[in-house]
Amino acid sequence: MLDATKRRKIVCVFGTRPEAIKMVPVVMALREVENFDVEILATGQHLEMLDQPLQYFKLTADLNLHIMKQAQSLDYITSSVLTGAGEYFDKVKPDAVLVHGDTTTTFAASLAAFYRKIKIGHVEAGLRSGNMYLPYPEEMNRVLCDRIVNWAFAPTESAKENLVAEGSKAEITVTGNTVIDALYYAVDHTSKPEIFAKLPDGAPFVLVTAHRRESWGEPLENICSALTELLDRHPELWMVVPMHKNPAVREVIRKHLEKRPQVILCDPLNYPDFVWTMNAAKFLMSDSGGVQEETSAIRKPLLILRDVTERPEAVEHGSGILVGVDRERILLNALRIMEDCSFAEAIRKKCDDQPFGDGTASKKIAKSLEEYFRTHE
Ligand code: UD1
Ligand code: UDP
Repeated sequence: MLDATKRRKIVCVFGTRPEAIKMVPVVMALREVENFDVEILATGQHLEMLDQPLQYFKLTADLNLHIMKQAQSLDYITSSVLTGAGEYFDKVKPDAVLVHGDTTTTFAASLAAFYRKIKIGHVEAGLRSGNMYLPYPEEMNRVLCDRIVNWAFAPTESAKENLVAEGSKAEITVTGNTVIDALYYAVDHTSKPEIFAKLPDGAPFVLVTAHRRESWGEPLENICSALTELLDRHPELWMVVPMHKNPAVREVIRKHLEKRPQVILCDPLNYPDFVWTMNAAKFLMSDSGGVQEETSAIRKPLLILRDVTERPEAVEHGSGILVGVDRERILLNALRIMEDCSFAEAIRKKCDDQPFGDGTASKKIAKSLEEYFRTHE
């Protein structure tokens, strides 16, 4: 006889900025389920960039492994998360572990859970670029993770199809992306950040972010060169660049853009400030995954600074334009947005659906787990 009131311990693991933003709504939804005890294990793969969303959403990790060190290697992240998460699971003995997305925290924590035969749920499962080095190492992280999970929470139908095509044995639920849940929450709490004091109200600006490992070095140099050329051609344009904390990224961006009077280089923005900035920008350029989903939801043109995307919905939907890391291609598309009013307007008009969900993804995940534990020992 099943005991419907039996308490279940669910550990949510995350370590980087995007995982935190996208897992906070899941933690909140799980905490609404009466017989769930929900814990957060932060790996601390990121430091300041993880603390920012945790503080904003007023959540505290039950344990933070604090693994981050400067210029950390993939081997180092993998081994420290594997060991640290494993020790934590041995101590708290969860009924289920939830991981998110495609970082090395995701892969290593799911492996630690697998070694202990703990059930694993993968939030944002099934994304595939089809190229194991793009993005690197994220494509392989998510492939490996999806191979060992019990529940795959796919954000879109096409993510589900990817899993089915691979012969996934996981129970697959299409939920929407939890970033939309976070976005809808934050959008009501935004105002112009104080650090933008010098940005004149109403001035056109482009918002730029870049951090991917495969873009370090020459690709990032090409991106920055396209940015300076764009500024030369459009003296009325401002540029806001919240720089990832990685010195390898910051040095290149600083070298190209620091002396430009209409460029605002800043530290990573707090999530609601970033949401305000996305909304106020004329358009965006980014190699980020999460930003592709968010710009689709807010209907902003985004030049995707990557050769391939695992989020084809953003391109099909019309807000995302895949421009790669080629200087001329980036410039050409940016100039088109600047100079052809009908182009940006057409993007806005085309985007009448919400490919990444309606803001209820986390509730669907919680409901699905509640249902599972109601019917299983
Ligand atoms: C990581 C993820 C990537 C994700 C990105 C989100 C891996 C291998 N990469 O990449 O999938 O898209 O996070 O931003 O999992 N640093 C700080 N403070 C911070 C964060 C980073 O100083 O709060 C610096 C450190 O020097 C660190 C370096 O950035 O060694 C790189 O961090 P790391 O997590 O290894 O890679 P990301 O590029 O952030
Ligand atoms: N973001 C933020 N502040 C910033 C830049 C980005 O809060 O200064 C948010 C953004 O809205 C999105 C997430 O961080 O939700 C994306 O993280 P990132 O680009 O680091 O990682 P990715 O999504 O590429 O894995």
